[in-house]
Amino acid sequence: MRSNKEIVMSGIRPTGFLHLGNYFGAIRNYVRMQDDFECYFMVADLHSLTTHPDTSSLKSTVYRVLAENIACGLDPDKVALYCQSHIYETGELYLYLNMLAYKGELEKTATFKEKIRLQPENINAGLLTYPVLQAADILIHRAKYVPVGKDQEQHLEMARTFANRFNHRYGEVFPEPMAFNYSMDLVKVPSLNGSGKMSKSENQMATLYLADEDEVIRKKVMKTKTDEGPKEMNAKMPDYIENIFLLMKLVSNGEIIQKYRSDYETCTIRYGDMKKQLAEDMVLFISPIRKKVKELLSDEKYLQKVMEQGAEKARNSAEVTIRAVREVMGLNYFS
Ligand code: TRP
Repeated sequence: MRSNKEIVMSGIRPTGFLHLGNYFGAIRNYVRMQDDFECYFMVADLHSLTTHPDTSSLKSTVYRVLAENIACGLDPDKVALYCQSHIYETGELYLYLNMLAYKGELEKTATFKEKIRLQPENINAGLLTYPVLQAADILIHRAKYVPVGKDQEQHLEMARTFANRFNHRYGEVFPEPMAFNYSMDLVKVPSLNGSGKMSKSENQMATLYLADEDEVIRKKVMKTKTDEGPKEMNAKMPDYIENIFLLMKLVSNGEIIQKYRSDYETCTIRYGDMKKQLAEDMVLFISPIRKKVKELLSDEKYLQKVMEQGAEKARNSAEVTIRAVREVMGLNYFS
C-alpha cells in the first residue's frame, strides 16, 4: 500500500457493541479520511485482554466490530482493516519501547488510575503498559495522524514521548504522531438520560447502539427526560432539552430543528412531537446500518477475507518499520 499519502492509524477495542458515540466520534472521521490518506484501522483485540481476560466471546465481538465499521462506510479495499493480534511486529516493537517507558510515568496515566480503581483485583502489567502497546500500534506504521477522541490525548502524548526517546537514543525512525479531527470541537453525542455522553459503560437505555432494533430505538428516545416546557419567552434551556437538540442535529434536517427551536422560544414546543421526530430520524439513520451489519455477519467467509487482506497490508508496512528499528538498534548481527 506504500503511497505518497500521509499515514493515518487508529484502533477500536472490541469490548461491546458500537454506539452512536463511536460513530460520530470516530468511525465517521475514518470514513472521511479513507480517500485522502493511507489508512490503517485496527481492532485492538490485544488491548481488550487487559480488562476482559475472558475470551469466550472475543471472536464474535471482533467480527461484529469489523462488520460495523464496514457497514458505516469503511471500504476494506481502500484501507487496511485488520486485527491487532495478526501483526507480530507490533509485539516486538512493544518490547523495545517498554525499555524506554518508565514505571513512574506509566503509573501517572489517567486511564491506568481509572482502571485500577475499577478492577482492583486485576492490576496486571498489561494494564500498566497499555499506552506502550498503543504507541507500538501507531509507530509500527510510522503514522502521522491518529483520529481519536479527547480521552486518548494523553496516550498520544506518551506515544510522542516514546517516539522521541527512541529517535534520540538509537536514530531517527519515527515521526511524531498527532491527534487528528476534522472539526475543531469534537462532536459530542449526549447520553439519553440527560447528562454525560453515550458510552459503553453507561446504562444501556441511555445509549443508542448501531444494533438496536427500530422499536428499541423508539422506546429509548421516547423515554428521555423532558418537562412541562418553558414558561416564558426565550427561557434558558435546561441541559436535558439542549441534549435532545444536540441529538437532532446529528440526524434530523435543519429546518425541522429550526422549527422546534422557535417553538421553544415562543413556548409552544411539544416535546412529545419533538421526540417522535427524533425517534423516526434515528430509525432512518440506524436501521440501514443495522441491516447491513446483519448481512455482513452472515457471511463469515467474506469477513475472514477482509481480515486476511487487512493483515497483509498492515504486515507489509510493519515489516519495513521493524527492519529499520532493528538496524538502528544494532540488533542486525548478520549484516
Ligand atoms: N486505546 C484506544 C481506545 O481505548 C484503542 C487503541 C488501541 C488505539 N490502539 C490504538 C487508538 C492506536 C488509536 C491508535 O479507544
